[in-house]
Amino acid sequence: MEFKQLNAIVSGGASGLGLAVTQRIIAAGGTVVILDLDCERYADELILLGERAHFIATDVTSEAAVDAALQESHSTLGDIQLVVNCAGIAPSSRVLARDGLINHADFQKVIDINLNGSFTVCRAAVNLMQHNTAIGRDDERGVLINTASIAAFEGQIGQAAYAASKGGIISMTLPLAREFARLGIRVMSIAPGLFETPMLDKLPLAAREALSNNTPYPKRLGQADEFAALVQHIVENSMLNGSTIRLDGALRMGQK
Ligand SMILES: NC(=O)c1ccc[n+]([C@@H]2O[C@H](COP(=O)([O-])OP(=O)(O)OC[C@H]3O[C@@H](n4cnc5c(N)ncnc54)[C@H](O)[C@@H]3O)[C@@H](O)[C@H]2O)c1
Repeated sequence: MEFKQLNAIVSGGASGLGLAVTQRIIAAGGTVVILDLDCERYADELILLGERAHFIATDVTSEAAVDAALQESHSTLGDIQLVVNCAGIAPSSRVLARDGLINHADFQKVIDINLNGSFTVCRAAVNLMQHNTAIGRDDERGVLINTASIAAFEGQIGQAAYAASKGGIISMTLPLAREFARLGIRVMSIAPGLFETPMLDKLPLAAREALSNNTPYPKRLGQADEFAALVQHIVENSMLNGSTIRLDGALRMGQK
């Protein structure tokens, strides 16, 4: 599918990786509906995106809110060809923490946002995409891209919930791709290493430097636009389907 003039939904599109994806789609003449929690925090970035960026305040853990946002997007834009799920959180907590046993609700919250939220957006999107006009040599109707993490493969201490949520994203990629194949809808996941976004800003500088130094090559954090460039390539390359691509500079995370 050509990357030009797409109608897209980007969850978590107000910040970090999702914002870079949004910027790239708009630069290619496309239109994006951002689903994110609130636009006030990101007002400056959102204004810069211009009139082909729309924002619908949506908590991806609410099925009703996601369904309504997708319906509204479809009514405004017509066929939606691309969905990129970047909404996520990455808290870290040991099961046996200093202040007691991990709270089950904290574990559940990470699964609800990262895994269930991505599924909920895919579910609502494919319901609309199945009616899209098929385009191009391969009669494509759409592309769904979810954001996993290398923590799914090498989760560190404290990342049980986060790693489980990202592992779930990777595991559902193939069955979804197989199911939607007859509709001409592809499903892919990206497993980023460490990228310079507000999510990582929360780490102290020394920890960020140590993480950069652990990346074999290039010895730096990834830039959000490098993630967006891979999204573009996945859209353009129809043979990419049903799998997860690591984007990590050969980083393999150690035990802690
Ligand atoms: N930055 C990294 O190094 C890195 C590495 C691997 C994976 N990831 C994944 O990439 C994705 C994007 O992360 P980022 O680094 O851009 O972080 P970020 O914090 O900059 O962006 C995440 C966005 O998700 C939104 N969000 C959170 N909860 C939400 C909810 N319930 N409903 C709707 N939106 C919600 C936030 O408001 C925010 O805008 C996440 O899934 C993250 O786990 C990031």
